[in-house]
Amino acid sequence: MQFELTEEHLLIRQAARDFAQTELKPGVIERDEHQKFPAEQVKKLGELGFLGMMVSPQYGGSGMDAISYSIVMEELSKVDASTSVVVSVNNSLVCYGLEKYGTEAQKQKFLVPLAQGEKIGAFCLSEPEAGSDATSQHTTAIDMGDHYLLNGTKNWITNGSTASTYIVMAQTDASKKHRGINALIVEKGMEGFTVGPKENKLGIRGSDTHSLMFTDVKVPKENRIGEDGFGFKFAMATLEGGRIGIASQALGIASGAYELSVQYAKERKAFGKTLADLQAIQFKLADMATEIEAARLLCYRAAWLKDNGLPYAQAASMAKLFASETAMRTTVEAVQIHGGYGFVKEYHVERLMRDAKITQIYEGTSEIQRIVISREVLK
Ligand code: CAA
Repeated sequence: MQFELTEEHLLIRQAARDFAQTELKPGVIERDEHQKFPAEQVKKLGELGFLGMMVSPQYGGSGMDAISYSIVMEELSKVDASTSVVVSVNNSLVCYGLEKYGTEAQKQKFLVPLAQGEKIGAFCLSEPEAGSDATSQHTTAIDMGDHYLLNGTKNWITNGSTASTYIVMAQTDASKKHRGINALIVEKGMEGFTVGPKENKLGIRGSDTHSLMFTDVKVPKENRIGEDGFGFKFAMATLEGGRIGIASQALGIASGAYELSVQYAKERKAFGKTLADLQAIQFKLADMATEIEAARLLCYRAAWLKDNGLPYAQAASMAKLFASETAMRTTVEAVQIHGGYGFVKEYHVERLMRDAKITQIYEGTSEIQRIVISREVLK
């Protein structure tokens, strides 16, 4: 058993840490307040190879492992979870699925620009009436011979207006239930495809979340990923890796809030001492540190299983469940430690607390993670 990061992992961590401090921290409060998409920052992340981290260099990616991905997600999310969600969705919900299940032509046309960061991708599964109950797809893709006719609405889509390439799950044959769902690649600009208004959110406010409307959109047959009816399995298999990304995002939000709390506790004076001298604060910091370390180990273990070609669905769900619950608890305590300062924007912890909440919801709520975990337990 090896608990040490490799030299390469340490270099990647330093690069992501430096990027977060120099490129993400300035302006993060303003972007949150004005719901401003981090366009420049995402462009630079693409140039650094962070948008196609695990994609093979043959398709324009960086060829890194999933542990590196987890490390980068943690470091970026310590400072700006609105940016890290773009990284996560592009890497694990879009690039990974295209590389693993796409045809050679789809990889050349769609994966290469996504992995190089020239374009951004979106993953479109959720609908107004299908969130956790993802098999209940109401969006339809009628088979018209050489193309599908796509109709319906998708909700809460990350990168909704900034993406160029959308992977859309839609029902082709309702009689087959989830086995009649297809995953289709839809391009921005296709006739009948419109983007709804931006959602006004509690957290990750810099990220770009929209509903999408499809009215008689003609999607060529060659844009279907996998065999006819593979769409639901595609979505589930892709989400397994996505959950490592969001677990690592939650880990980063927690560790960002923790690091700010340690620093504040050492500086702030109360009752003639620093906060760090008070046992009430020491115990809070001890609990935070312990939970964060446990969350990190769960993230790395899920990533290691994936890197080694072993089943990782349960491990990814455990990591996401624990890390997101840790993020929520830790950020609430971080605000408490900061007292009145924690309640104002300049100290960052209130934003981290708001950002933490979504990690318990997207890419499968905590309740969905418990379903996945308990099914494995009871197998
Ligand atoms: N890999 C491959 N196939 C899988 C799978 C996996 N990990 N998990 C399930 N499947 C297959 C099953 O084998 C089954 O196929 P067969 O019937 O052919 O054997 C099929 O999928 C249906 O599976 P279930 O019977 O388990 O389906 P279910 O209705 O009980 O639900 C669920 C399963 C786990 C609850 C699933 O619906 C789920 O994960 N829901 C949550 C959806 C979700 O995470 N949404 C997030 C939206 S994306 C997002 O947030 C992105 C963003 O922008 C940030």
